[in-house]
Amino acid sequence: MKLFVSPHEISYQESGRGDALILVHAFPLHRGLWASTVRALSTRYQVLAPDLLGFGDSLLSSPTQISIDTYGDHLVRLCEEKKIKKAIWAGCSMGGYILFALQKRYPGLFRAMVLVDTKAAADSAEVIKIREQNASLIEQENPTDFYDLMLTRLLGATTLQKRPGVVASVRRMMSEASPHGVAAALRAMAKREDATARLPQIHTPTLVIAGEEDQITPSKEAKAMAAALPNGTFVEISGAGHLPSIEAPEAFQTALQSFLSTLK
Ligand code: MLT
Repeated sequence: MKLFVSPHEISYQESGRGDALILVHAFPLHRGLWASTVRALSTRYQVLAPDLLGFGDSLLSSPTQISIDTYGDHLVRLCEEKKIKKAIWAGCSMGGYILFALQKRYPGLFRAMVLVDTKAAADSAEVIKIREQNASLIEQENPTDFYDLMLTRLLGATTLQKRPGVVASVRRMMSEASPHGVAAALRAMAKREDATARLPQIHTPTLVIAGEEDQITPSKEAKAMAAALPNGTFVEISGAGHLPSIEAPEAFQTALQSFLSTLK
């Protein structure tokens, strides 16, 4: 399905009925990250999985400036379109950065939050520099090297060795991103605010999930983030890296469903 977010259009999948559950994917992927989560949860929830602008079917054909709040505005538009007043939100990595910023601006939209392999901290000066270099490179040429490197960072050692189907699927998702979308997202992430100091004020029931083999957001850091949240719970998924929803879908869904069952 398509949603107009002036002057662009984004694509999203909607399945099931019940309380709204909105799934926000990681960089540089698309809603396919949540395919098995959508299948498992649409029996009880209204599950919405958008492709962020510039990813998947939400094409971006020219250089465009996007901020983390721009993605958040698109999610708010989706809620308006679907008449959703409150949702359970799940965000993986960049999806989590977007949720931190959205929760600050629209706390009333949050019934609960699931933060998957993400962090509250902003980028270091070094990371900001690398993001800009990558953004410029991607706009100028075919970013195959960048995607090869991303693949080895996104996936855990177990997946890289034993799950060729998952490796192929993540590689395909990356290849479906628009170069301008990837560059814009790198720049948006580089400018995001640090949410660390705000963690003790976020009272939304929050499940923090981290893959044991995540190199981008070490599980230890995610555990500390959960401890800083007044209503935070932490679950580590073994044998998974940065993308547990696709690397270890069964363990991921068990953690998610057990958290959802605690919500009133
Ligand atoms: C993501 O998975 O969304 C990105 O790797 C996050 C990041 O680069 O900080």
